Amino acid sequence: MQKKIYLSGIKPTGTPHFGNYLGAIRPTIQASQNRQLDHYYFIADYHAINALHDPNLLRQYVYEVAATWLACGLDPEAVTLYRQRDIPEVFELQWILTCCTAKGLLNRAHAYKAQRDLNLEKGHDADQGINAGLYAYPALMAADILLFQANKVPVGKDQFQHLEMARDIAHAFNTRYKTSLFTLPEPDLEVGLVLPGLDGRKMSKSYGNTIPLFETPKKLRTLINRFVTDSSRPEEPKDPETAPIFHFYREFATEAQTESLRQRLLQGGIGWGDVKAELFSIVDEAMREPRARYAALMENPAQIDAILAKGAEKARPKAQAFLQQVRQAIGLA
Ligand code: TRP
Repeated sequence: MQKKIYLSGIKPTGTPHFGNYLGAIRPTIQASQNRQLDHYYFIADYHAINALHDPNLLRQYVYEVAATWLACGLDPEAVTLYRQRDIPEVFELQWILTCCTAKGLLNRAHAYKAQRDLNLEKGHDADQGINAGLYAYPALMAADILLFQANKVPVGKDQFQHLEMARDIAHAFNTRYKTSLFTLPEPDLEVGLVLPGLDGRKMSKSYGNTIPLFETPKKLRTLINRFVTDSSRPEEPKDPETAPIFHFYREFATEAQTESLRQRLLQGGIGWGDVKAELFSIVDEAMREPRARYAALMENPAQIDAILAKGAEKARPKAQAFLQQVRQAIGLA
């Protein structure tokens, strides 16, 4: 029996940070160990260019994302790991799908709507500074997913709507051409832990409150020390749940360590400075090996290229065969 397909993409628009790691990278690597499924992981490089216009940075981020996945334990032999650009069939399918996508559907996409609302708030023209790539983004994402007939796609809150749109678009195609060619993808909602950043808001590049994943130990310590805490003194009891550093801590600590810290906070007797020191030592230890693997990969981009090229070699024949069926269904073959 054909295995079900699990597919996940990351847009290379920044240096991976702990929020990306806990929200997307670690859960997808865990998922990849489920051998009941066939796994596709890709770097959504063409998605990046609606917002990222610096060629050198884009090149750098693509390597960083690939090296992060690999350094954190994704096994490129067991899964198919590739770059979107190496599967040009994605872009042909995007056009085909765009012609099955109601314009009104794209009007409602939240990334586009957010920028529009911001313009209106400022009294600007609603579409000022918005490129059609941002607008068409959900159709490209649908092409990524539908080309490989993915059954399950991990989505956090921010991507859930895009996945629903991929389903809508697939359904529109199937209905129009009286076919069941496209598989309707399901969201895998297990992922999407939202890690607080240094200022307590969601860790996100746009808030400037991130901790990059592969910082030197020295820099890591400095950043951890910058985490906001309340002003309670060491002897005062503290609420672990409202402390961003506690959320970070429990993602890396053992259950026993987490429980011990919880009790010490609740009872009072430990200051935030000591909590930060413990957090640093646990995270630093956890990152030691991945950090070394990451550094080795980043020093040898040719090795990353070779791994990604091999992934594309595995993926592309499937994409070509499926796209041919799509062309036939619409009368272009
Ligand atoms: N839009 C996703 C993000 O911003 C990246 C992405 C592109 C993706 N295509 C995808 C994720 C297909 C899952 C499936 O992070």
